[in-house]
Amino acid sequence: MPQRRISLPASDMPTAWYNILADLPNPPSPYLHPGTKELIGPADLTPIFPEALILQEVSSERWIDIPGEVIDLYRQYRPAPLHRALRLEQALGTPARIYYKYEGVSPAGSHKPNTAIPQAYYNKKAGIKRLATETGAGQWGSSIALACNWFGLECTVYMVKVSYHQKPYRRTMMKLWGAEVIASPSDQTQAGRNILAADPDSSGSLGIAISEAVEDAVQRSDTNYALGSVLNHVLLHQTVIGQEAIAQFDIVGDYPDVVIGCCGGGSNFGGIALPFVGQQLRGEAKKKTRFIGAEPAACPTMSRGEFRYDFGDVAKYTPLVEMYTLGHNFMPAGIHAGGLRYHGMSAIVSRLVKDGIVDPIAYTQNACFSAADLFAKTEGIIPAPESSHAIRAAVDEALKAKVANEEKAILFCLSGHGFLDLGAYEAYLDDKLVDYELPEAELQLALANSTI
Ligand SMILES: Cc1ncc(COP(=O)(O)O)c(C=O)c1O
Repeated sequence: MPQRRISLPASDMPTAWYNILADLPNPPSPYLHPGTKELIGPADLTPIFPEALILQEVSSERWIDIPGEVIDLYRQYRPAPLHRALRLEQALGTPARIYYKYEGVSPAGSHKPNTAIPQAYYNKKAGIKRLATETGAGQWGSSIALACNWFGLECTVYMVKVSYHQKPYRRTMMKLWGAEVIASPSDQTQAGRNILAADPDSSGSLGIAISEAVEDAVQRSDTNYALGSVLNHVLLHQTVIGQEAIAQFDIVGDYPDVVIGCCGGGSNFGGIALPFVGQQLRGEAKKKTRFIGAEPAACPTMSRGEFRYDFGDVAKYTPLVEMYTLGHNFMPAGIHAGGLRYHGMSAIVSRLVKDGIVDPIAYTQNACFSAADLFAKTEGIIPAPESSHAIRAAVDEALKAKVANEEKAILFCLSGHGFLDLGAYEAYLDDKLVDYELPEAELQLALANSTI
């Protein structure tokens, strides 16, 4: 009987993060200043980030040591288990071997603490007293609240208003870990007040909440900003996921033919995929692996967006990033995968898509929830709605393998659990989930309204 749960000894946890920028033949274009549109320098970022994270953002060192205090806190929940989905395979009748790396074992319930902990650590070391951030569904907000609590930092979270009301228990988690939670758009910032003046009923978006958090951080010298995805240093921190997976595949003598992650800003996908992509680029991979980034059809950034420079937020405070984008003024539909409702994408993941190394795929929410339903019934874990996109892609790959009678190995990142998303599951069970594919006219309008 194959091993169901492949554990890595604590002593084998990675001690360095993997930086793909050392291996990419075609690195992402540099960030541009939001005002001058000239190349941005480290000094432009110091009002909101500590120097250590700015250096990581631009580093081309292949390995960056993980500080001892961060390793110590990672040990609270890492190494995360790799599971072989034997019951799911059986239910699908597939010859494929399906594996999932389960990041829901962290205290916040997702992969987000992997970067929240080092971000809080480096800010604390730089003498910062308080962090401001945004959150969509609350997974990132709760992770940074947890990390700030561990390092004795204050934390203010601007939470997208629709989720603020839909997900009261995520709010409670943040408050329990000592954070202040503000529904965004709010009257606390100029960016928020401008949005409310134009639309008092605005339900908010990640792009608006980012503007509010950046503005908050810029205005106070004791405060920095923290971002839960998209940036190079965030993907860097998440590479503990893929590095552990490589070691766990070694234990069972296997190697993935396909690696899958859901993509909001690209961090859990980058976390699981980049160490494998690196092996590929360095000619060290045991196989030619395919990489799939799964996203919502309601917010199809990689599959239908434009590859160009754009702002990361609505108020145009962030640097310009060359990436796939639906336009910084894009307002995503209220699908339940709140963490995937972002108009942009990591520059690294965008580059890999552009260069044909990563294949994007978009799904509507009922297709994802039905895969999550099968997963919950077979493997027992109730997945986060975001992660259900990766499950859908894995199930489809396994069904294709069945038709082709192929014994391939499929790995996906189960980025979080869905225990605080049961309202969404209730709607799915009651047949009340509405599928939404972004209409072409709406996409073109959002792009046209988002020139830089
Ligand atoms: C469980 C979960 N998975 C995935 C994501 C998407 O983010 P990223 O693409 O940065 O992994 C989120 C974002 O909030 C999330 O909460």
